[in-house]
Amino acid sequence: MAEPTRRVRIRDLQEKKQRGERIAMLTVYDATMARLLDRAGMDALLVGDSLGMVIEGQDSTLPVTLDAVVHHTKAVTRGARRALVIADMPFLTYQLTVNEAVRSAGRLIQEGGAAAVKLEGGRAVGEVVARLVEAGIPVMGHLGLLPQHVHQLSGYRMQAKSEPEAEQLVEDARALQAAGAFSIVLESIPAEVARRVTRELSIPTIGIGAGPFCDGQVLVSYDAFGLNDESVPPFVRQYAQLGELMVEAARTYAQEVRCGRFPALDHGAGGSGK
Ligand code: KIV
Repeated sequence: MAEPTRRVRIRDLQEKKQRGERIAMLTVYDATMARLLDRAGMDALLVGDSLGMVIEGQDSTLPVTLDAVVHHTKAVTRGARRALVIADMPFLTYQLTVNEAVRSAGRLIQEGGAAAVKLEGGRAVGEVVARLVEAGIPVMGHLGLLPQHVHQLSGYRMQAKSEPEAEQLVEDARALQAAGAFSIVLESIPAEVARRVTRELSIPTIGIGAGPFCDGQVLVSYDAFGLNDESVPPFVRQYAQLGELMVEAARTYAQEVRCGRFPALDHGAGGSGK
């Protein structure tokens, strides 16, 4: 008989940090990929607002709506049976009032089926984080390069490069932990700053473009698998070139259709294909 699948829980991530085991996380936006990444043993799956770029073809995460993240989170939670599913809170769904933040996060949990939410910012969102945690909603923080602040940051650039900026970031990380966040994503900061935060906190840090000293790593899956044929951030390692494979497969299919090689007479004709 197959082993029953045990869900990864927030406590599992915390215990991994205590044992010095690294946490593997990827972004995902649909049920099929969620099933595959679950099979690969991913600890956590993030329904990132990067879906604005990856799925919707926008040039930033700013236009992403709560409805869109709820929609994709539903799909992911149907596919993922084991990994912890975390849903991103889109721009302006948690900054206006604390009540609205609870309502937005509540939809991601209640309708989407996520086990936790992620939001960007440090001390400025401390009250929101505390209120969500009080309401029973686990929160992952996000510091360093905040894509929802792209205009204020004048682009997607590395953060916390100077000592005063690094000190501010460490303060923000302490504030998120004190507010009850269970983990923090550190994006595009120097490895030494990420190491400092990781050593200082008891909750796990998950790095992206933040060097090797975090408790875990996250990548945008489309970047990691070579599905993104536009520019890929320099810190990304591509573990496959699935985009090239798909283009080749689609070319072969089109050629076979055009020359009448597909379908063959004895090739399952008459079935629905579903
Ligand atoms: O939206 C996203 O994919 C993210 C990751 C880059 C951490 O926030």
